[in-house]
Amino acid sequence: MRSKDGNDEAMIKVSGLTKSFGDNKVLDGLSFEVAGGEVVAVMGSSGTGKSVLLLQMVGLIVPDAGEIEIDGVKVTSLTERELLGFRSRVGYLFQESALYDFMTVAENLAFPLREHTKMTTAEIGSKVAQFLEYVDMPAEGDKYPSQLSGGMRKRAALARAMILGTRVLLCDEPTSGLDPIRSRDISLLIRDLSKKLGCTTVITTHDVVNAFRTADRTLVLDSGRIVAQGVEKDLRASTDPFVKEFLEG
Ligand SMILES: Nc1ncnc2c1ncn2[C@@H]1O[C@H](COP(=O)(O)OP(=O)(O)O)[C@@H](O)[C@H]1O
Ligand SMILES: [Mg+2]
Repeated sequence: MRSKDGNDEAMIKVSGLTKSFGDNKVLDGLSFEVAGGEVVAVMGSSGTGKSVLLLQMVGLIVPDAGEIEIDGVKVTSLTERELLGFRSRVGYLFQESALYDFMTVAENLAFPLREHTKMTTAEIGSKVAQFLEYVDMPAEGDKYPSQLSGGMRKRAALARAMILGTRVLLCDEPTSGLDPIRSRDISLLIRDLSKKLGCTTVITTHDVVNAFRTADRTLVLDSGRIVAQGVEKDLRASTDPFVKEFLEG
């Protein structure tokens, strides 16, 4: 399943992505591909451009150069109006869970279904119940985000990100701010749900243990480029000084 250059099977193709903010060159010709159904982690230190990469993948930041193609759509060529439609097809789990505080968990999950589908109230209710089950929160639908733990907020946000039947899921630092147990739980949940629902998933992280736990393949981002990639065994065998230092903490 692993995609090679120019493989039509690739669900996500990023090529030559370059982005600077003033003198700060963040991405410097970044390229990678993700095959359909694959779960990939992009691992790198703080400030290496992980969030900037994901934001470009949904057109919230415009690259200086390079191309991004997702599920056959050239994101980098879309107009603002086309981007609005495109974003509803991509699940995005923001670093701060970004649930609506004034809505219950169930209302948060129902929101994208109301906005983007013609489902009836009853259909929405059963879809919401199904996704609450998926994230192991069957009894939490009536709670407000402020009444939930950090781990539960993350899980609810994950359910909301996936509820439209999205084929592509992007998760920005899903374990940040969580303790080791909750970090493991959300990592395994992202992996399990991606596989179960057939989603192609990219997570960014600086959490080495959970990157390997979540992903089929891990890419290491340094100085604006992918400097190494593979499964844990490949990366542990890398002789790249940055990769060695990063993995050994
Ligand atoms: N909107 C912006 N304007 C200026 N600089 C930015 C902006 N967004 C990110 N940056 C800079 O880009 C670099 C990468 O940021 P980011 O992608 O948030 O890092 P990461 O997510 O890997 O921690 C940082 O140096 C950050 O200060
Ligand atoms: Mg970030």
